[in-house]
Amino acid sequence: MSIVITGASGKLGRFIINQLLQKVSSEQIIACVRRLESGKPYEEQGIIVRHCDYDQPESLEHAFAGASRLLLISSSHHDDTIRLRQHAHVIEAAKKSKVDHLLYTSFAFPEHGSVSPVHLHLATEHAIRTTGIPFTFLRNALYTDFVGALDINEAIKKGKLSIVPGDWKFNSVTRQDLAAVCAAVLSEPGHKNKIYELTASAPWTFEDLADALSSLSGKTISLQPDPEIRNWIYGFLSKIDTTSTSSDLERLLGRPVTTLKESVKPFISL
Ligand SMILES: NC(=O)c1ccc[n+]([C@@H]2O[C@H](COP(=O)([O-])OP(=O)(O)OC[C@H]3O[C@@H](n4cnc5c(N)ncnc54)[C@H](OP(=O)(O)O)[C@@H]3O)[C@@H](O)[C@H]2O)c1
Repeated sequence: MSIVITGASGKLGRFIINQLLQKVSSEQIIACVRRLESGKPYEEQGIIVRHCDYDQPESLEHAFAGASRLLLISSSHHDDTIRLRQHAHVIEAAKKSKVDHLLYTSFAFPEHGSVSPVHLHLATEHAIRTTGIPFTFLRNALYTDFVGALDINEAIKKGKLSIVPGDWKFNSVTRQDLAAVCAAVLSEPGHKNKIYELTASAPWTFEDLADALSSLSGKTISLQPDPEIRNWIYGFLSKIDTTSTSSDLERLLGRPVTTLKESVKPFISL
């Protein structure tokens, strides 16, 4: 069995490959990278590295040759129309390469969202279905990294976390938890034609975040609702489904998701 992974040089790709190495031998993994030099650390671990650029369709068929399982990690391009074209190149090449199983890192509950990235993810899922290749949609929740856009270090300094008022709830999780499940699904049988909503099993709230920051900093952090806040992140959060949850992630992980306190720790510069 050979497992081919695109976006292998990215943060999620690196976490997935680290987890995969605990489950399969390095010769079974093919890391696809846009710049071959970013694959050097993989080669040193005995992993095959191939060139793959979503914008260069001619690079893709060779990259995917012999793949039993191909994981398409969604493109990081900022323009969703371009991402759609890039993903179409990958999907077409997967079909030509006769890939046995195509897995895709989508976004959780995309039908409930109204921003262009969720339309892109749904469009990609539909495009994958046109191929007839058995698929798995790994619908990743929002990464908890988004807390980095909430001025949490300023909140610790002031003892107050300013938020836009509202009944906010978050199903976000860490990349590491998502990567662990992606690696498990890639290395096990039984996941063909399945859709997994990879969110926290229970949502967390801004009260929970204030508690986590208080515990991490040793200071009391209280919430300060402020309708005047101008922060782009709230516009985005209000147009995706951050509330719905599923037990898929914890079931596939076989353990609870990383706690909020542990998840926000890397974003605190005390
Ligand atoms: N769920 C969420 O909250 C969330 C948040 C942000 C992003 N995402 C999505 O999740 C994906 C993975 O996240 P991440 O943290 O690993 O992102 P990342 O660290 O930015 O990695 C993106 C990967 O995509 C590769 N890539 C970009 N354009 C490419 C192209 N034209 N051809 C081939 N490879 C290309 C990059 O290669 P290089 O190293 O050469 O640039 C890199 O390996 C992102 O790409 C994005 O679609 C999800």
